[in-house]
Amino acid sequence: MTVDLVEMYEPRFLSVRHRDFYGDSGYSNFGYWTGGAATAREACDRLLDRLLGRLPRPPQRVLDVACGEGGTTTRIRTVYPEAEITAINISPGQLARAAARCPTARFLRMDATRLDFAAASFDVVLCVEAAYHFDTRERFLREAFRVLRPGGTLLLTDGIVRGPLGPLARRLVPDLATMPAANFVDRAGYERLLGEIGFREVDIEEAIERSFVPCGRHFLRHTWREYLRPSRWPAVLREPPAPLVALWWRTSRRYLQEYLLVQAVRPAEPAR
Ligand SMILES: C[S@@+](CC[C@H](N)C(=O)[O-])C[C@H]1O[C@@H](n2cnc3c(N)ncnc32)[C@H](O)[C@@H]1O
Repeated sequence: MTVDLVEMYEPRFLSVRHRDFYGDSGYSNFGYWTGGAATAREACDRLLDRLLGRLPRPPQRVLDVACGEGGTTTRIRTVYPEAEITAINISPGQLARAAARCPTARFLRMDATRLDFAAASFDVVLCVEAAYHFDTRERFLREAFRVLRPGGTLLLTDGIVRGPLGPLARRLVPDLATMPAANFVDRAGYERLLGEIGFREVDIEEAIERSFVPCGRHFLRHTWREYLRPSRWPAVLREPPAPLVALWWRTSRRYLQEYLLVQAVRPAEPAR
């Protein structure tokens, strides 16, 4: 089964269910459900704040990789009003909607594994919930290292997915079915890769119980509640039915072992 990621994401981002769940925020990630987060938008804001809160000082130049519809980019802009923000994605549709949402950032169509920027262009490279898709994650991490200035920081959230996928998962969960084989690594392999590329000060938080798990609970509740609103039936009936949505979450959970919040630094060059 060949699934194009742009085609896979387009109906998802445009669906009434997705827009309602994320409060039209431009986000599409599992969020960080702590401190009384009641909505997906709040949880996603918390996830970004958790990542950005690790930075020692406000960055000047930030690259938001795989920016979706600009929810992440908008949060970076809110937290750092003075920063020069560049955001990339492979999807022209998502990019157009992101640019409308956050007009003060620069949006470019670009593959995360072939970053068309000079070396040392950014203080921070951020990538939320997308690196497992990239062909390959390693190529992206090497590119991120190159475009970070010495002393710059990589901030990621990423999934540790256990393979091989069974036939049901391959049919039902294109998100995982499209993953290149090289991206199925365990946590030790993930940390080793960061070290081999040259990243230092690696700090990883495992957060599946604060991200994927509560997000699934909230998303399913949201999905079932749609059926109580007859005015919404025409739109909702065009979307996957609730039992299928429940199966997506359950099957994903079988394979998604860990959800990592990663911080890593490109070391400053030694003084001569
Ligand atoms: C789960 S969404 C996350 C979006 C956003 N980071 C957020 O947290 O709301 C994954 C995103 O990865 C993007 N993507 C997938 N492969 C990509 C690639 N090779 N280069 C750039 N973006 C990519 C998709 O278009 C989609 O926007």
